[in-house]
Amino acid sequence: MSAARTITLAFTGASGMPYGIRLLEMLLAQGIRVYLLYSQVAQIVAQQEMKLMLPSRAQEAEAFFNDYFNAEKGLLKVFGREEWFAPVASGSNPADAMVICPCTMGTLSAVASGLNQKLIERAADVMLKENRKLILVPREMPFSVIHLENMLRLARCGAIILPANPGFYHHPQSIQDIVDFVVARILDHLGVAHTLMPRWGEES
Ligand SMILES: Cc1cc2nc3c(=O)[nH]c(=O)nc-3n(C[C@H](O)[C@H](O)[C@H](O)COP(=O)(O)O)c2cc1C
Repeated sequence: MSAARTITLAFTGASGMPYGIRLLEMLLAQGIRVYLLYSQVAQIVAQQEMKLMLPSRAQEAEAFFNDYFNAEKGLLKVFGREEWFAPVASGSNPADAMVICPCTMGTLSAVASGLNQKLIERAADVMLKENRKLILVPREMPFSVIHLENMLRLARCGAIILPANPGFYHHPQSIQDIVDFVVARILDHLGVAHTLMPRWGEES
C-alpha cells in the first residue's frame, strides 16, 4: 500500500473528537498535507468534550491548529462548509484519501445516499466516485437497522467502516492510550507510519 501524502480530514458532530484531533496531530507531525473540514456541530462537540473552541473562519482555524500543534506552516489547509472552490470538491484534484472522524450517523447517511449538500458530503462522494480511499469512523450505540444498512451500502461502495471501538488488550493506562488505539488503526489504513502502540505479536 502506498502512503497517502495528502489527506482530507473531516470532523463531524459525533462524540469522539479526541480521536479526530489526535489524528490531525499525527498527520501533521508526519509532514502530511491535510485538508481539514468540520461541521457546525463538530465545533459544539469539540467545545463540550475538549474545551476546544474551533474557529469558524478557515484562516483563523489554520493559525489556531498550527499554533496548537506547533506544526510546519503550509501543511494544513482549512476549508469552509460551503467552499465549493476547494480542491476536495472536484474529482480533478482529489486528496489521496479522506477520513471522517468522528463521523455522525447524519453525515454517514448523507454520504450513503449521495446527498452532496455540504462540502464534507461532496468530498466523500468524490472519493467514492474516483475510487480513492474513504474511511469513516462512526460513533453511535446501539446501531439501528438504518445505520447498519447505510454502513453496509458504503462498505459495498469501497469505503472502510472503522468504528471507534478501542480494544483493551494493549492494557491502556490512560484515556490517551485508548484514543491512540483507534488512531493507530486509522493511520495503518492510510499507510502512515506511527509508533502509537505496539503491534500484536511484537514486543512493546
Ligand atoms: C455533544 C453531542 C454529541 C453527539 N454525539 C453523537 C454521536 O456520538 N453520534 C451521532 O451520530 N450523533 C451525535 N450527535 C448528534 C449530531 O451532532 C447531529 O445529528 C448533527 O446534526 C450531525 O451533523 P453533522 O454530521 O453535520 O455534524 C451529537 C450531538 C452533540 C451536540
